[in-house]
Amino acid sequence: VGAALRDGPLKGRHVVVTSGPTHEPIDPVRYIANRSSGAQGTAMAAALRDLGARVTFVTGPADVPPPAGVDVVRVQTAREMAAAVQATHPADAAVFAAAVADWRVENASGSKMKKDGSGKAPALEFAENPDILAGVSQMGAGRPGLVVGFAAETDDVVANATAKRLRKGCDWIVANDVSAETGIMGGDENAIVLIDGDGADIWPRLPKAEVARRLALRIAGAIGAG
Ligand code: CTP
Ligand code: CA
Repeated sequence: VGAALRDGPLKGRHVVVTSGPTHEPIDPVRYIANRSSGAQGTAMAAALRDLGARVTFVTGPADVPPPAGVDVVRVQTAREMAAAVQATHPADAAVFAAAVADWRVENASGSKMKKDGSGKAPALEFAENPDILAGVSQMGAGRPGLVVGFAAETDDVVANATAKRLRKGCDWIVANDVSAETGIMGGDENAIVLIDGDGADIWPRLPKAEVARRLALRIAGAIGAG
């Protein structure tokens, strides 16, 4: 708290951004996670900050450092991320760029799991994590005025993301094709499709910072002072 806020169309607005992967422990030395550098979420937070927003940045263990001038909340697991997001309300907009692990290990061990010499691998049991985006999208009173989800897809990007938007109840979905041949995962560029109630808008391939800048301007158009 206490970062100097800039002038801009989002001055006086509070925006929550989730970013990075979550880590779900198996034991004290092992975890499962999604592949996510945190680059696009970090760029989003910086772009929203640059338009004057007060940004709360809820981040899992990402490769890239959080931007300056935002309020950073560090978490490890999906359930910690859900609780951290819960604590950020009220917000004018929420942008869910995190790659949340869909499942956590239900039989995680408090002590390091050891090979027992039998050659048998341990059996992990999974439980589904809370859907943070769907929860905020459907929260009723106190819902942010604009809720934006992200969707990394590999097959029919527009159809999958359009269905996802309706299923979750968010306002926009920022979809991208992360098939290996696109080279998007872990790269500096992104090619997105912005899906809202009117349809799908296909954007050109751009640096992640430029995607973020344009998305932040769209967000300002939706919730900003104008
Ligand atoms: N998301 C979330 N909480 C979860 C899972 C996903 O907030 N437990 C958010 C992500 O941050 C993203 C959006 O939901 O903004 C879509 O994530 P995605 O993994 O594509 O959606 P899922 O519903 O998990 O669908 P899938 O089975 O395709 O992974
Ligand atoms: Ca998922």
